[in-house]
Amino acid sequence: MVERTDVDAVVLVGGQGTRLRPLTLSAPKPMLPTAGVPFLEHLLSRMKAVGIRHVVLGTSYKAETFTEYFGDGSAFGLDIEYVIEESPLGTGGAIRNVADRLRGDTTLVFNGDILSGVDLVELLDTHSSNHADVTLHLVKVPDPRAFGSVPTGPDGRVQAFLEKTDNPPTDQINAGCYVFRRSVLETIPAGRVVSVERETFPGLLADKARVFGHVDSTYWLDLGTPAAFVRGSADLVTGIAPTDALPGPVGAALVLPGAQIAPGASLTGGTTIGRGVTVGAGASIDGSVIFDGAVIGAGAKLARSVVGAGARIGDGAVVNDAVVGDGVEIGSRCELLSGIRVWPGVTIPDAGIRFSAEG
Ligand code: GDD
Ligand code: MG
Repeated sequence: MVERTDVDAVVLVGGQGTRLRPLTLSAPKPMLPTAGVPFLEHLLSRMKAVGIRHVVLGTSYKAETFTEYFGDGSAFGLDIEYVIEESPLGTGGAIRNVADRLRGDTTLVFNGDILSGVDLVELLDTHSSNHADVTLHLVKVPDPRAFGSVPTGPDGRVQAFLEKTDNPPTDQINAGCYVFRRSVLETIPAGRVVSVERETFPGLLADKARVFGHVDSTYWLDLGTPAAFVRGSADLVTGIAPTDALPGPVGAALVLPGAQIAPGASLTGGTTIGRGVTVGAGASIDGSVIFDGAVIGAGAKLARSVVGAGARIGDGAVVNDAVVGDGVEIGSRCELLSGIRVWPGVTIPDAGIRFSAEG
């Protein structure tokens, strides 16, 4: 692999991950265990695969958790630097804030919560063949309202950038990965909060800068919500989503070292079982993420849920589309459904929460 010494990567990892609470109370979103490793490790593996070596992380919320795990990056075949914002500078402010660490003329910027199959070499080729100032990776989604809507002309030139509007003009959205010409990146004002989506991109378009889109239809997911988080993790385990960082073979489930799975338990749909987890006899766990040290009781049925570190799920409990925080104790025969979130440390007694009328 040829090293792309002309390309620096910047990853924005300073957000609070509010929509993933309570999981993000103890770890920032990109550090949440996803298919066995922090989510960011999957993203970094995609950069390494195309020869990128120099990565700058723009951190703020729980900045130390990144440094502690990734260090100088050498264990991951990368050269990683960190820039900490004392108070969050927004997406554009965070990009500008790392400018003095850049070494080449081309900067690849990533939102730190995106799982994507985009071919980064093709994205860089689109950027250079258009002599672009900025190139945005764009994808089509069924409901564009929660994203930046980005219409393009027949030549691929971006016509507008409309962040999170009720009536987006197109279902083609900002996929959260950009190529910047370094001199253009340096025009973002320094030392204040800037939104790249609400200020920088509209401003560049008003100034007639060369802003292009690179549309593709490979795998794409923003892991910002619990439902998307479990989906993304499961897709990594089953091989639907691309990564070079899966700590095991692709398959129906990923079981990390030290876990004990009782005979007759069923693990399906890309479930991850963390280190030291115990799964009781006859339990079934589908498409879920079980963090280290959790205990799943006999006959419990879990689907599309996250179970926090050290949490205990009682015998025969039903847990669907739920987030169970670290250290939570869920009594036997409880039923947790439909997006419920249980905050860390809570204890629910046997049959203490149910949807069914019979106890
Ligand atoms: N360093 C730093 N500082 N990082 C930040 C800050 C900040 O002040 N604010 C947000 N980030 C990081 C988050 O950690 C995340 O990795 C990324 O920037 C995007 O923030 P989100 O909060 O996840 O934004 P979003 O998902 O609502 O919208 C963004 O992504 C969409 C694609 O998923 C926008 O870029 C949309 O236009 C886009 O469509
Ligand atoms: Mg996001």
